[in-house]
Amino acid sequence: MFVVISGTNRRGSNTARVAAVCVRYLESQGHEVKLLDLIDLPPEVLSPDAYFDRPAGLATFQAAIDEAEGLLTVLPEYNGSFPGVLKLFIDMLEFPRTLTQLPSAFVGVAAGRWGGLRPVEQIEQVFNYRNALLYWKRTFIPAVHEALDEDGELSDEGLAKRLHALLDGFAAFAKTNARSAQ
Ligand SMILES: Cc1cc2nc3c(=O)[nH]c(=O)nc-3n(C[C@H](O)[C@H](O)[C@H](O)COP(=O)(O)O)c2cc1C
Repeated sequence: MFVVISGTNRRGSNTARVAAVCVRYLESQGHEVKLLDLIDLPPEVLSPDAYFDRPAGLATFQAAIDEAEGLLTVLPEYNGSFPGVLKLFIDMLEFPRTLTQLPSAFVGVAAGRWGGLRPVEQIEQVFNYRNALLYWKRTFIPAVHEALDEDGELSDEGLAKRLHALLDGFAAFAKTNARSAQ
């Protein structure tokens, strides 16, 4: 099972729409997929007690990642980085085991022309620190507010092809690098 994270909790986010594109494509290729949208995080994650007394609503997030054969994170650029809620979410996951050797890939989205290059490179440092197994390709979606059509699909054929190639490549990478086999 693959997990796709929509890496912001902003209501109406374009990140969630791109995450949905990824879920639909992976499912169309026969993969089982679970979407985790950070908009569903329990508000108690902001409690000062959350670090030692994990909010109950986090359990479904933790369980999905524990079961995942691969983790795809779709993340937007906020202030030249990735959203604080995404870092908080990572900080809430059980340490140190959760991301260890977990095949992981990233799709960056941004209003700007660099398509989330900065947040992807920054979050890769965090995943490397947590000993995740990073897929070497990434996809960036610049001007994301103009990139999706009324059906919520990518209107640029070349971009859609690059995203599909990333997803196909990552699915194969995850299967040949399963963490149980490490
Ligand atoms: C708090 C905040 C900070 C942002 N900072 C940047 C930025 O540094 N660079 C950029 O290209 N877009 C920036 N944006 C625009 C987002 O990239 C844009 O909203 C895009 O649709 C992806 O974010 P979304 O998933 O929230 O829609 C920012 C948006 C928000 C809400």
